[in-house]
Amino acid sequence: MNLISIADLDGAGITRLLDRADELKRDRPKGASAPSARRLEGKSLAMIFEKASTRTRVSLEVAMRELGGHALYLSSSELQLGRGETVADTARVLSRFVHGITARVYDHRTVVSLAEHASVPVVNALSDLEHPCQILADLMTIRERFGRLRGLQVAWIGDGNNVCNSLILASAIMGMEMSVASPPGYEVDSSVVEKAGQLGHRPRLVAEPEEAAAGADVLVTDTWVSMGDEAEEAERLRVFGRYQINSRLLKLAGPKAIVMHCLPAHRGQELTDEVMDGPQSAVFDEAENRLHTSKAILEWLMG
Ligand code: CP
Ligand code: NVA
Repeated sequence: MNLISIADLDGAGITRLLDRADELKRDRPKGASAPSARRLEGKSLAMIFEKASTRTRVSLEVAMRELGGHALYLSSSELQLGRGETVADTARVLSRFVHGITARVYDHRTVVSLAEHASVPVVNALSDLEHPCQILADLMTIRERFGRLRGLQVAWIGDGNNVCNSLILASAIMGMEMSVASPPGYEVDSSVVEKAGQLGHRPRLVAEPEEAAAGADVLVTDTWVSMGDEAEEAERLRVFGRYQINSRLLKLAGPKAIVMHCLPAHRGQELTDEVMDGPQSAVFDEAENRLHTSKAILEWLMG
């Protein structure tokens, strides 16, 4: 079993992980006496990072620790991978040492190849195509706030990127209605839209942020310049200017709507301070929920 795409899980699988993450959240204050505290005793997790990370790295590392296991942070540039050892051989060798592998990579094919050649579970900790771990935390956060997922209107404002792709697929699986507003040239890939259709529901693609935001329950955004897109920064800042979640846009969604962002945020770009620090923001609960969902994922795959 691996978690490479959020679509590796079906609705029942996602619901099971979210239920377990809720339980783990409730149990956390019990610390070492929580029933989960020894679930991964004796187990080790190798965490390969080609890119920077705060939430993913720390949530996985703390999750392993609190489940009684051990996590190894492996920067790809310090592994022999950085000197030309193949991804396949790295996967084969790590599988002899550890019980699970997570990888944050530039090219999605790298994490797919790791999974093909590893004999232990592999988790995508973000690639250029998807960010399934993030989306489980997002679903947990939405369910906490609304008590359900099915039928909710979710509006993505901004780049049709990795996080957006996973959210589109998750919405299709969980029965949420998703609208995506992206500037021309930065829309989601048609293959993702098609896959969502096969899973049950295509997103509504619109050009104007107002069109997506009107009446939405959840407004979601992400950086305009993802890791790997830095060379396009100046052009992106110019093109994305109108795709900002600010109080004017939030008003269109209404007083019960929540605002989400996987973080790190670029305050004043994709969302304003006023919105991020305001009463409708769920971004820090969303960040915390990375820990609880990381635990649920690791228990599922390595327990
Ligand atoms: N949201 C997220 O994945 O954050 P990091 O890049 O800090 O891991
Ligand atoms: N879309 C962003 C997400 C960071 C967590 C990136 O890929 O850089």
